[in-house]
Amino acid sequence: MVVESAEVLRDFPDAATLRRDFPALTQSVHGHPLAYLDNAATTQKPEAVIRAEGEYYRRDNANVHRGVHTLSERATAEFEAARAAVARFIGAAEADEIVFTRGTTEAINLAANAWGGANLGAGDEILITELEHHSNIVPWQLIAARSGAKLVVAPIDEDGNVPLEDFSERLNSRTRIAAFGHVSNALGSVNPVAEMTRLAHAAGALVLVDGAQAVGHLPVDVGGIDCDFYAFSGHKMYATMGIGGLYIRAGIAADMPPWQGGGEMIRSVSFENTLYAEPPHRFEAGTPNVAGAVGLKAAIAYLDNLGMARLAAGEDETLEYALEQLRSVQGLNLVGRPAERVGAISFTIDGIHPHDLGTLLDHAGVAIRTGHHCAQPVMEHYHIPATARASLGLYSTTGEIDQLVAALNEARKVFSP
Ligand code: ALA
Repeated sequence: MVVESAEVLRDFPDAATLRRDFPALTQSVHGHPLAYLDNAATTQKPEAVIRAEGEYYRRDNANVHRGVHTLSERATAEFEAARAAVARFIGAAEADEIVFTRGTTEAINLAANAWGGANLGAGDEILITELEHHSNIVPWQLIAARSGAKLVVAPIDEDGNVPLEDFSERLNSRTRIAAFGHVSNALGSVNPVAEMTRLAHAAGALVLVDGAQAVGHLPVDVGGIDCDFYAFSGHKMYATMGIGGLYIRAGIAADMPPWQGGGEMIRSVSFENTLYAEPPHRFEAGTPNVAGAVGLKAAIAYLDNLGMARLAAGEDETLEYALEQLRSVQGLNLVGRPAERVGAISFTIDGIHPHDLGTLLDHAGVAIRTGHHCAQPVMEHYHIPATARASLGLYSTTGEIDQLVAALNEARKVFSP
């Protein structure tokens, strides 16, 4: 339970009303109304976001920070206004603490390469957890291989939580950074990120939080968490693909060398001596995704209008309903029982491979993700190759859950007639 819901949800539009804002949700798939339950992979986009990007291209399109002409000035103003909106939305103190990236993966690669490249050496340790998505594992493996640093992994328990004692035990004076997810994409586990940050800081390590699965579901406050880096993707919070960001706490970015080189990230270039721009521009080489940033600002306005605390409470009710209904399906095994859960529910069904299940469900109009969810260590922990995963968004209805459960029961009949 994220927040006590009854009072919070007074006057909150129900999911059935909210879905009218999302054109893609009104379609049928294989003759059934679409039940879109793959929001951990990507969310659908409200008309407001689609319109904002369209208007940007119809009216303002120009390259940013380069021209003195009117369109370039407008595009630059919109891009920087989006940066300020992101900063406020996630609780950063300053707009310049936000670097725009393609998404979470690029954000973590940026931190691992720019910060890690300058600060990690032989004997240093990078602490991650067994719950991580590949994008918060592989960039650290790559920089570990280059720097001689060692990757250390804190285990999860059978329920899919990261026990704090185990996390704490793996922190020591050699730990230079701890990198962990806010919410697990595979199991929906919510990590106690503020407490984990406090523990890591006490050991002298910096902290990166992978917020990909949190930003669209929970109020995020990087100041409250007190982390040093926070990575997120726009497309998991109702904006479009190809835009996201990395929060870098003020003071840390100033000492980080650039990662990619090119236009936009320099103060002056000569063959003898190139001087770099100040952050955040130092980390934004090349032409950025301005339309994506404009859409992200529109998505934030949409979410602000609903209120993230209220949205979280509404989603939590649907999630509880989904868990209850899924438990009624014979032969269904929930994978992970995290102490606090947001967004995603993973499960298997006795005798049906998750991929077959995904196909059968699609024929009933239900979109879920099946596979290892780019979190193979989590699958290994449970000794399974794959799960089926239903994941919710702000527009998910109990009707969609009923459609999922009915489709699961039909699938069982196909495999055990
Ligand atoms: N990380 C995304 C997911 O969990 C793609 O589906």
